[in-house]
Amino acid sequence: MKQQLEEIHGAALRALAAAHDEAAVDQVRVAFLGRKGRLTDVVRQLRDVPQADRPALGAYLNEIKDDVDRRVQESLATLRAAARARAIAAQRVDVTLPGTRPARGRLHPVTQTLEHLVDVFVSLGFDVADGPDVEDDYHNFTALNFPPDHPARDMQDTFFVADGHVLRTHTSPVQVRVMERHKPPLRVIAPGATYRHGDSDVTHSPMFHQIEGFMVDRRITFGDLKGVLTLVVQRIFDPSARLRFRASFFPFTEPSAEVDVNCQICNGADATCRVCKGTGWLEILGAGMIDPNVFAAVGYDAEQVSGFAFGMGVERIAMLKYQIGDIRLFFGNDLRFLRQF
Ligand code: FA5
Repeated sequence: MKQQLEEIHGAALRALAAAHDEAAVDQVRVAFLGRKGRLTDVVRQLRDVPQADRPALGAYLNEIKDDVDRRVQESLATLRAAARARAIAAQRVDVTLPGTRPARGRLHPVTQTLEHLVDVFVSLGFDVADGPDVEDDYHNFTALNFPPDHPARDMQDTFFVADGHVLRTHTSPVQVRVMERHKPPLRVIAPGATYRHGDSDVTHSPMFHQIEGFMVDRRITFGDLKGVLTLVVQRIFDPSARLRFRASFFPFTEPSAEVDVNCQICNGADATCRVCKGTGWLEILGAGMIDPNVFAAVGYDAEQVSGFAFGMGVERIAMLKYQIGDIRLFFGNDLRFLRQF
């Protein structure tokens, strides 16, 4: 029996040496130490051994079982440590490698200009108001003193929607909405998108932005309008920027003016300048004293209060500020253009 035990011991050690993963080692354990394992089998055979030989054989058997068990545990520990080392090596991160730089977005030049203008007006004490892009006919036209079926409605190349609604052709309807809800004194701007069909060219786009502004109080004069606009334009461009007021007509202001700024691109020195067309001036806004009929529409007493209003084109100002020769560049989504701002 001793010889048989030695042979089993040798077989167990060879099997262990050939087991290269945890599952194989476990199979060896089951084959030799399990309930039906070869060493367990020998324990049963001990019963048939003469009484005198049993203690020595029993002790030898236990020695072998312990040895096989210890080697199985050692083998498992070695395999587990190696597996962990491999996993750690696979997950290794070289923190000194250069990272991937996230692409940085930036504000569109028209947004930058709009925000700059809003900041200047807010610094002068103006509140900021908002109105819908899809506007009803009443606020876009009627309350602003456009008579029904009057050709003045054609002045604005209107996009008609449905049920008497339009895409607002200007930000002036926000004047009406604010005055309907609030009493003077008022000092308000309303920035936003406006829409007009018609030709698109170097200085015209079917969608563009305006900043409406108005001030209503006792004894507001055209002088206040000139003062505010001059200050804003000089803050946006530089203190030498000049304004030119030309008499004009809007149904909602009287008197009315169109206002030009001296061309910040050629300053009038280039007869071929595409932006000012060689005139040295670019129209940036319409303005005037709020018409008494508009005050009547919102329930104000025109004998008691007066006010000025203006609507400025944000893209036109951005063109002059950044020396852009064609308004359509703002809406072409060409990254080579946009990345310059
Ligand atoms: C108006 O829209 C009036 N609501 C302005 C106003 C407000 C007058 C309050 C009096 C009192 P006008 O159509 O001129 O006016 O447009 C005002 C400015 O918007 C223009 O000076 C110009 O800078 C800009 N603008 C007009 N049409 C376009 C267009 N198609 N593309 C880009 N900018 C435009």
